Amino acid sequence: MIQRMGSDAPEAPCTVVLVGFMGAGKSTVGRLLARRLGLCFVETDDMITAREGTSIPEIFTERGEAHFRALEASVLDALGDKHGHVIATGGGFPCRPGVMERLKALGTVVWLAAEFDALYERESRVGGRPMLAGRSREEAAALYEVRKASYSQAHLAVDVSRLGADAAVSRILRYLRERERAKRQAAGVGSRPIP
Ligand code: S3P
Repeated sequence: MIQRMGSDAPEAPCTVVLVGFMGAGKSTVGRLLARRLGLCFVETDDMITAREGTSIPEIFTERGEAHFRALEASVLDALGDKHGHVIATGGGFPCRPGVMERLKALGTVVWLAAEFDALYERESRVGGRPMLAGRSREEAAALYEVRKASYSQAHLAVDVSRLGADAAVSRILRYLRERERAKRQAAGVGSRPIP
């Protein structure tokens, strides 16, 4: 039995997938959201490091980006077992052809969007991201622009440029409740109030 902690959590167990550029706060928001929904939380990067027994920067250094992307592809195949989870993906995870469609088939996909400057400032503070090593600010901005085409296919975009993690979670919960209510109405299932 899944225990729901927040009184504003939607009724049905669901899978939520967070996508977005590095620095968007997918891990923080994902963890909080999972707690509010009473769901498990998983990160695709953690699935990769657990399988490989080594860190993401080491994978990039020793095996290269192409190898890392192949590992992401195999993790995508395994995500079907993660029903009823909140899943935080790596920044490049949804950006290969066909991946967004597959993520949307798993559940609700949420893009944590932000202005590039806000993301870059956060990324620079934290550091340790192989995709930014050796890239100028302009090159990183260009990468974000290209990736937006994938991220923007999400069911919901939440602009986190000036939004804290709690507010982002509230926005996602509101969307899940509204979506559930619409589904119930479409199915003609009474008007049981959703907390
Ligand atoms: C990557 C983002 C990282 C990680 C890897 C590659 C990317 O995840 O998957 O370093 O290509 O943008 P975060 O978005 O959690 O930093």
